Amino acid sequence: SDRASYRIAAIPGDGIGVEVIGAGIEVLEALARRDGGFALDFEHFDWGSALYRRTGRMMPEDGLARLAGFDALYFGAVGAPDVPDHVTLWGLRLAICQSFDQYANVRPTRILPGIESPLRGVGPDRLDWVIVRENSEGEYAGQGGRSHRGLPGEVATEVAIFTRAGVERIMRYAFALAKARPRRKLTVVTKSNAQRHGMVMWDEIAAEVAADYPDVDWDKELVDAMTMRMTLKPETLDTIVATNLHADILSDLAAALAGSLGIAPTANLNPERRFPSMFEPIHGSAFDITGKGIANPVGTFWTACLMLDHLGEPAAASRLMRAIERVTADRTCHTPDLGGKATTRMVTDAVLAAIEGDN
Ligand code: NAI
Ligand code: MG
Repeated sequence: SDRASYRIAAIPGDGIGVEVIGAGIEVLEALARRDGGFALDFEHFDWGSALYRRTGRMMPEDGLARLAGFDALYFGAVGAPDVPDHVTLWGLRLAICQSFDQYANVRPTRILPGIESPLRGVGPDRLDWVIVRENSEGEYAGQGGRSHRGLPGEVATEVAIFTRAGVERIMRYAFALAKARPRRKLTVVTKSNAQRHGMVMWDEIAAEVAADYPDVDWDKELVDAMTMRMTLKPETLDTIVATNLHADILSDLAAALAGSLGIAPTANLNPERRFPSMFEPIHGSAFDITGKGIANPVGTFWTACLMLDHLGEPAAASRLMRAIERVTADRTCHTPDLGGKATTRMVTDAVLAAIEGDN
C-alpha cells in the first residue's frame, strides 16, 4: 500500500505533560483511523524529572541520536518542584531545540469559539495572530558565566547573541509566513532604542529582507509598547516576529488574551527538515493541578494540528481543528482554567466524538 506512515516520538515529560500527551495521542489515533489515508506510529520516551532523580540525566546520553530519525516529536512539558527549572529545561526541551536547530518557534493565537477573551468586546474578528519566536540565539543561547561564587564580588553575565545568519533566517521565515496569511502583515518587535547593537542589527536586517517581500505590509514596534498594542489594539496585528526572550514573554500574554494558557499551541521548527521538528503546548508541567484530571488538553490538540500540517496531512489537521472548535463552542466542555467544570477526559471524549461525527 502507498499509505503514508509517520514515526512520532512521544515525550510527555513531567506533570500534566503526561496527562495531555496521553489525550493527544488518543485523538491523533482516532484521526488516522477516521482518515484512512495515513498511519501514525508512536514510540514513547519516559524522559524527564523522574529519570533525572534516578540517573542525574533528563534524557539518556544517546537521547538525541534516538530521536534523530523520527518524522516529528510530540512533547508535553518539563518541570518538577524538587528539580531546578534550568536543569529540567536545559536537560531536555532546550537540548532538543538547540541540537535539532529548531530555530523557528511558531505560536498561533486566536480566540476559539465559546471562549471569552479577558479583553472587553474582543472576539475572533479582532484577534488572530501568529507569533514567530527566534528559537536558537538571542538571550537564551546559553552564553555567559558566573565567577567568584558566594563572594561579595560575585559576578554573573547573561549574554544575548545575535548573528546575521540567525536573524536573517528567522526574518525570512516570518516574512514568508506573513505573505501566506490573508492580511500579509508583519510586525517586527525589538528594543532598538535601549539595546543599540543586536537590536539595531535586527531592524536593519528586517528592512533588507522586506525588500524581497514588497507585498508584505510591515512595521516595527518596541517590545514595551507592544504589550500595550496587543492589549489595546489587537486588530492592528497579524504576524509578529521577535527575539527569543521578547517573544517568550509576549506569547504568554497572547495566550492569556486568547482565553487561557491551556489552549495555546506551538511548533519548534527546523524548516529545512534536516532534523525532526517538535510540537508542544506552550504551558508547563503545572504541578498545582497535576493528577487532578483537569488539565486542559486543547493546547495539545491544537498542537497536533500544527504537527499534521507539518507532516503534510492538511485535511486531517483541518478536521481536528473543526472538532476542537465544535467542542470549545460548548461551554459544558470547558475545564476550570476556562471557568468550567469539565475534566481532561470529558474534553477528550467530546473531541473524539466530534471527529467521528465530522464529514
Ligand atoms: P505552567 O504553565 O505550568 O502553569 C501556569 C499556570 O497555568 C498554573 O496555574 C497552571 O495550573 C495553569 N495551566 C497551565 N497549563 C494548563 C492546562 N493545560 N490546563 C489548565 N491549567 C493550566 O507554568 P509554571 O507554573 O510557571 O511552571 C511550572 C513548571 O513548568 C516549572 O517547572 C516550569 O519551569 C515548567 N515550564 C515548562 C515549560 C515547558 O516544558 N515548555 C514551559 C513553562 C514552564
Ligand atoms: Mg514561556
